[in-house]
Amino acid sequence: MSTEVFDRVKQLIEEIRSAKPSNKEELEAFRLRFLGTKNVIKPLMGEIRLIANELKKDYGQLVNEAKEVAETVFQSVKELVEQAEAEAAVQHLDLTAPGEPMPLGSRHPITLTMNRIVDIFSRIGFTVAEEREIEDDWHNFTAMNTPEDHPARDMQDTYYLKDSTEMLLRTHTSSVQARVMTHQKPPIRIIAPGRVYRNETISARSHCQFHQVEGLYIDEGVSFADLKQTLLYFAKEMYGADTRIRLRPSFFPFTEPSAEMDVSCFLCGGSGCRICKQTGWVEILGCGMVDPAVLENCGIDSSRYTGFAFGMGIERQAMLLHQINDIRLFFENDVRFLNQFKSAF
Ligand code: DAH
Repeated sequence: MSTEVFDRVKQLIEEIRSAKPSNKEELEAFRLRFLGTKNVIKPLMGEIRLIANELKKDYGQLVNEAKEVAETVFQSVKELVEQAEAEAAVQHLDLTAPGEPMPLGSRHPITLTMNRIVDIFSRIGFTVAEEREIEDDWHNFTAMNTPEDHPARDMQDTYYLKDSTEMLLRTHTSSVQARVMTHQKPPIRIIAPGRVYRNETISARSHCQFHQVEGLYIDEGVSFADLKQTLLYFAKEMYGADTRIRLRPSFFPFTEPSAEMDVSCFLCGGSGCRICKQTGWVEILGCGMVDPAVLENCGIDSSRYTGFAFGMGIERQAMLLHQINDIRLFFENDVRFLNQFKSAF
C-alpha cells in the first residue's frame, strides 16, 4: 500500500515538471490544478495516515516537494508569459497615433496683475523686496508711526497669533518698509508685492486676505515732485498712455503729507461710466512723503534723507481692469474663472 501511494506522488511531481503552460489561460489552469484552494496535492497529504510510521517523514517531504516544484514552475512560467505580453504590447504600439492632449495651465489673475505692476517699476530701477507674512507688532505698526490707540491695532481688525499681543498676520505691505529700512542704507528703491490679512467679514467687496504692492524710495533730496512723476509714469504704463492722474490730500500715519491717487477712468476715458461711478476718476492707491518719524524709527537720519512711499491693492485693480464684481472669485480656484486669464496681458 505504502509504495503505491509514494508512486502516485512521484508521478504527480513528474506531471508537474513536464507541464509546460505557454499562455495565460494554460497558466491559470495549472495554478488551479496544483496551487489553488482545491488543488490535487492537498488530498495526498491526507493519505499520510495510510503510511507506515517510519516512512511518514519521507512521505511528508515528498508531498512538500510536489508543492515546491509546482510553485517554481508557476513563477518561472508567469514571468515568461508577462514578458511575452509586454513585448506584444510594444509591437502593437502605433507611433503615428495622436498624443493625449495636456491641458495647459494659466497664471492666476492676481499673479498676472502683480507681475505687471512689478515689471513697470523694475524698468525704472526698483528692485523686489519680499518679506514675512507673520510679522511683529513693531514692524507692522510701531515703526510705521501707528499710535497705540489706532483702530487697526485692535483685535477686531487684525489677526493676532494665538495667545499673542506681539505677533500678527501683517495688515499691509508697509511692514516691508520697516524691514528694509532697518537693514539697508539709502539709497533705497524697492517694490514689495505680497499677501496681507485683515479681520474683515467676507463679502463681494472685501476679503480677510488680499494682496498689495508697496513702493519705497529713499535718498538725499527726494521730493513730492519725484513721487508724482513716478506715479504718473506708472499710471500711463498700467492703464494706457492717455491716462491722467489726480492726487487728493489724505492721511496715513506713516506719510506726511499723504495723498490718495485717482487715475482717469480707463473705460470711459473720463466722461463717466459704471466703473468710475460717473465721476471719471478711479481711486488706485495711497501715497506720501515718508514721515521723518518713520525714518528715525528705522535708524535713518531724517535731516539728511527724505523719501516717498505708496501702497496699492492688487485685487481692486484686477477687478477694475477685468470688470470682476466679486472679490471671492479670486480665492475659489474655479478653473472656469481662472481659465479666462490665459492671455489677459
Ligand atoms: N498701507 C496702506 C494701506 O494698507 C497703503 C499705503 C498708503 C501705503 C500710503 C503707503 C503709503 O506706503 O504711503 O491702506
